[in-house]
Amino acid sequence: MSEGFSTLITNIGELVTNDPGAADLLGVVEDAALVVEGSAVAWVGRAADAPAADERVDVGGRAVLPGFVDSHSHLVFAGDRAQEFAARMAGESYAAGGIRTTVAATRAATDEQLTSHVARLVAEMRAQGTTTVEIKSGYGLSVRDEARSLAVARQFTEETTFLGAHVVPEGVTPEEYVALVTGPMLEAAAPYARWVDAFCERGAFDADQARAVLEAGAARGLRGRLHANQLGPGPGVRLAAELGLVAVDHCTYLEDADVDALRESGTIATLLPGVEFSTRQPYPDARRLLDAGVRVALASDCNPGSCFTSSLPLCIALAVREMGMTPAEAVHAATSMGARALDREDVGVLVPGRRADLMILDAPTHVHLAYRPGVPLVRGVWLAGRPL
Ligand code: NIG
Ligand code: FE
Repeated sequence: MSEGFSTLITNIGELVTNDPGAADLLGVVEDAALVVEGSAVAWVGRAADAPAADERVDVGGRAVLPGFVDSHSHLVFAGDRAQEFAARMAGESYAAGGIRTTVAATRAATDEQLTSHVARLVAEMRAQGTTTVEIKSGYGLSVRDEARSLAVARQFTEETTFLGAHVVPEGVTPEEYVALVTGPMLEAAAPYARWVDAFCERGAFDADQARAVLEAGAARGLRGRLHANQLGPGPGVRLAAELGLVAVDHCTYLEDADVDALRESGTIATLLPGVEFSTRQPYPDARRLLDAGVRVALASDCNPGSCFTSSLPLCIALAVREMGMTPAEAVHAATSMGARALDREDVGVLVPGRRADLMILDAPTHVHLAYRPGVPLVRGVWLAGRPL
């Protein structure tokens, strides 16, 4: 622990630690300092009490927060669906079938093209404070294209998710396709994936098919997560709770039994408000979930169809303005809860021993993330103890 170069980051007006032992949700320390040693946080406290370090960085009274943990994105794709978005804004409704447009473009792209596209989006995310990102496959939908999508994603993150069960591609029956996903495609994808996911929704996969995909993935060592209740009520959220998944994502259309199931299982509801913004749908009711004792995370769902934003600050602003979250709850949901939704202990929290992944805001408090929507407030990002 005492090895390595140390840096004292001081004159922090407001430090969000997310310390679970603190009295307030965000574990805020005012007039704070933080010591980074190697890749980890070594000390946190009042600036007046800070120990000496090899180097000193004065952040001028700005707020420092844990980096965002974006637990849901689909960054491996090619092509563009701007025309579909424009048509939607002119009155057409969103349907899962648009995914097939991206599948054709993704299959036609080279590995190098896919890699440089992901690199660009990850850089966009970093500039907006995201330090951990989960990336799904799901626009390949063939053995070769799912495996190479995950191999591309793996170059950027450990948090890779096999989403062969995104939609049934053209030319096969749903039964044939589920057999492919749970058989040869899973075999090819598993070496590059930590998680397995399915889109459990009308127009995509039903609960039995989603269960088959998650069970096959589990037998191959992949942990489950699920897209559910995005476009209408359905069985996905209860399936996720029954299987004890760490997180179920979207949760826009919930019945009381879904909320009860989430509370009882402890499964995190990951809300993706960029989707409702970009598909002009009603927002999920975060207040209802939080008041019922359900754990809530926020993520971007960055993808070319339903939501092409990489910005967690935007998602926080929407969650506060449209979904009944307080600024503190929204920031917590995009940091600490995002980490829990990926079952990660090492990120999302700035206390000694955790990874020094953090952002410096050009603002005195985290509240500005919602109070100043659309303004690029992230002034600096540190990844594993080093400024980018
Ligand atoms: O999370 N819900 C399924 N998948 C994506 C949308 C994919 C697309 O339209 O390309 C989502 O919203
Ligand atoms: Fe998604």
